Amino acid sequence: MTDWTDGYISDIEYGPGFYTEQTPAHLDVVCLLRGIEPPVAKGERFAYCELGCGVGQTAMVVAATNPESEVWGFDFNPAHIARARTLAKDGALANIRFEEASFEQLAAGEQADLPLFDYITLHGVWSWVSFENRQFIVDFIDRYLKPGGLVYVSYNAQPGWTDAGPMQRLLRMGASLSQGRSDKRVLQALDLANAFSGAGAISIPPEMVEQLKKQKTEDAVAYLSHEYLNEHWSPCYHADVVTDLAGAKLNFVGTANLLENFPALSLKPEQLALIKDMPPTMAETARDYFMTRTFRRDVFIRGARPIPPRKVEQRAAEAELQLVVPPHAITREVSIPLGTATLNAPFYEPALEMLAAGSRSIAELRAAVGAQSNAEPREILGMLIGSRQAKTKLRQPDETQLQSVRRFNQALLANSADLGRDVSPLAAVSIGTAMNVRLLEMLVYEVIAEGTPAQEPAVNRAVRILLDKRGAQLNFEEQPDSEDAYNRMLHDNIAKVLEHGLPMWKAVGAI
Ligand SMILES: C[S@@+](CC[C@H](N)C(=O)[O-])C[C@H]1O[C@@H](n2cnc3c(N)ncnc32)[C@H](O)[C@@H]1O
Repeated sequence: MTDWTDGYISDIEYGPGFYTEQTPAHLDVVCLLRGIEPPVAKGERFAYCELGCGVGQTAMVVAATNPESEVWGFDFNPAHIARARTLAKDGALANIRFEEASFEQLAAGEQADLPLFDYITLHGVWSWVSFENRQFIVDFIDRYLKPGGLVYVSYNAQPGWTDAGPMQRLLRMGASLSQGRSDKRVLQALDLANAFSGAGAISIPPEMVEQLKKQKTEDAVAYLSHEYLNEHWSPCYHADVVTDLAGAKLNFVGTANLLENFPALSLKPEQLALIKDMPPTMAETARDYFMTRTFRRDVFIRGARPIPPRKVEQRAAEAELQLVVPPHAITREVSIPLGTATLNAPFYEPALEMLAAGSRSIAELRAAVGAQSNAEPREILGMLIGSRQAKTKLRQPDETQLQSVRRFNQALLANSADLGRDVSPLAAVSIGTAMNVRLLEMLVYEVIAEGTPAQEPAVNRAVRILLDKRGAQLNFEEQPDSEDAYNRMLHDNIAKVLEHGLPMWKAVGAI
């Protein structure tokens, strides 16, 4: 048998992961912030494809929250595709297809029935596969992306990874000395790196070894193997990715890390002055020298259509914002690439208060705040979504859509519980993405979705039964020292989920 893996780690599965940056809802915001038309107008159906989809969580959330659209997920690892298909079937998703196919097969057109796509995304793939495979990806995009279509590609970025190069090579060489599965081999290689560091190998700093040794869970070790043991691991400069993707007529739009699209939040004045007259690709690459970004999430488009600046503000003003944090977690202190910024009080204080009462368009917020409103719509959109406090509300779902998303969420949460996860995404059809929920929230969601009345004693009883059935345990922030203390904590925490979580799930169309 020929080796189908092409140097990619395939003897252990990659763990599930959901990435909101890959959703059309988020990618359309990137386009608007950068003044470029998104692939389809708001509310229109689209065709979406994820390459190297792993076990498919992100693609499934896209399908579950956009039931009228068509979603495809491809991966060459049969275990990944089998897992993805099982969950899609359990969650009754009718608008997604997972196919076992390599980039080479896809580029050659071997997959029948493929539509042309509006969105093609790939996360955690590009800088881990061979140059030949990158070319297959470009060929596939060239063949299957519609004019005006969008590509999201994430990758390990240079120069941020330069110092880690010797570590990667040592881990890969070290792992090749032993036999067995990649997770075992990467841990043995880490011991070797530790020994090298102790014996004075200056390019293997002890802090880096310590950092990697903290990765102990099954998922974390799988991540280490997939991150460090691939034969073709090679972090890229942004400029080289731009050159490669030009082969499919793609132009760079911006980054899916929303706040990085605001230059003044990303670079100091003297840094901005140095890059201001550079051609755009060079300037964007130069930013990575100052920001030491180790991971980029780039958005490209095939045929960028600029939106006039006045219209950008107009469209941003029309966007309806939905808070996705509970009222007590709302903050005007925002992490920005340069450190922390404080959103101005005259606008954001009343605006956030209004949003806590329900979704509002940016135009409504500005009109209500009135004369003190010194924030422009585009900025408001970027700040509130970029700080992860809000999402754009895309639709008011009908009962059929809610039923479908509930069914999918029940399957997703049961699957996360089976895998021993204490965090899971929860698909939300109003906002076209998912929110993360922790173990107790997962349990409360499941019992309510199964019909338990949303009151503390009933939910408490049902949660205990579900915990027993699964043989699972809850971990509170503080360890209870008696049964009474445990009962009190469980009661209080369930009450909190019912007070804050449940109304939020309803507001975002997750239940
Ligand atoms: C690091 S994982 C990322 C998975 C998923 N996108 C995520 O972020 O959770 C990379 C994925 O690319 C797939 N892959 C690697 N080389 C491939 C190839 N030549 N053709 C198709 N899939 C490939 C792997 O099987 C793996 O599932």
